[in-house]
Amino acid sequence: MTILRRISRQIVKNSRKYSSEKSSPEPKYPTRVFSGIQPTGSIHLGNYLGAISQWVQLQNQNKDLILSIVDLHSITLPHEPKKLSRNILELTATLLACGIDPNKAILFQQSKVSAHAELCWCLGCISTMARLAHLPQYKEKSENLKNIPLGLFVYPVLQAADILSYKATHIPVGEDQVQQIQLCQELARIFNGRFGETFPIPRSLITSSEYGRVRSLRDPSKKMSKSDPDEKSRICMTDMPDTIARNIKKAVTDFTSEVTFDPVNRPGVSNLISIHSFVSGKSVNDICQEVQGIDTGKYKFVVADAVISYVKPIQEKIGHYLNDVGYLYGVLEEGNAKAAQIANVTLKEVHEKLGMTVEGRKRDDIVAKCV
Ligand code: TYM
Repeated sequence: MTILRRISRQIVKNSRKYSSEKSSPEPKYPTRVFSGIQPTGSIHLGNYLGAISQWVQLQNQNKDLILSIVDLHSITLPHEPKKLSRNILELTATLLACGIDPNKAILFQQSKVSAHAELCWCLGCISTMARLAHLPQYKEKSENLKNIPLGLFVYPVLQAADILSYKATHIPVGEDQVQQIQLCQELARIFNGRFGETFPIPRSLITSSEYGRVRSLRDPSKKMSKSDPDEKSRICMTDMPDTIARNIKKAVTDFTSEVTFDPVNRPGVSNLISIHSFVSGKSVNDICQEVQGIDTGKYKFVVADAVISYVKPIQEKIGHYLNDVGYLYGVLEEGNAKAAQIANVTLKEVHEKLGMTVEGRKRDDIVAKCV
């Protein structure tokens, strides 16, 4: 079975779950899909295979889909302001080039919907420092920092606020986000338990083990990551053909020259086969049969050619969108307004549940009692 077909099957399976939820007598929360991505530079094949390709499929199945460019998350570590504003536009162009359609999905900039930061505060008040300090991503990112920014510590609470602001039920992400989604589930449960039913308990959607964790080309025990200082560890959607060819050529494999798919014992070459399978639409088995007789060194050229052909039309579209910055601003502005409308309703409800609303009759009652 091709990997693309596997993704489709998974998504069909998920859609069945959605439709059975929908056909239950009175679904408490309508299906809503939410996800986010940081504007921290060009997206890589991990982001694309693990998250964005899933978003496009869900969008094309007409799911209620909300996607956020999470700029507030991207300032948790030191950053350059000029680079950030450029990255926001580039990411918008890239998501459109990858197939996100602003007429079908809401695409917006997180910092322009202030409800996220406000809900983050409310959820922060029911989070504990011990729980947040326990999260692996926090441990990893703070490991070599002398002075740890508070934002880095609170990051997962903001992520929970992103999700809960929209009462999202499904979160398509890569495997590295699972612990953050679990924290979000816990916070939703705590809030519901203390203040009354308010939030659905969202579920993460992960395509498959290969795509949920695309591996670093330099160290297959790690995930492909934007923050890896070694640029040869990843393939970015905007990489030139010679960079793609060089990085794949330098990918760490092992001492066996045959091309076989064995993610546990041969993670390096299996990672290349997974990427190849995705971009070519061929199954892992077909690929292994096809390349029988050639060694991993030569196979890398085959993978590089397939990746270069796959990203070329996406790169052309990115260039096209970046030539029309006015259009990109327009897409975000429209998305910001739509997102704010939804998130503000949730925030109002949260304020009411927390006892922070003093208006209308309630206010008159309170004033009457006070005098
Ligand atoms: P970010 O920007 O690091 O990554 C965006 C998406 O890409 C996935 N991903 C991968 N998938 C497979 N293999 C990889 N090597 C790989 N690297 C990254 C990520 O899992 C993610 O789905 N905290 C989030 C952004 C966020 C968010 C949210 C996500 C903020 N609020 C609410 C979902 C819901 C992040 O830093 O993603």
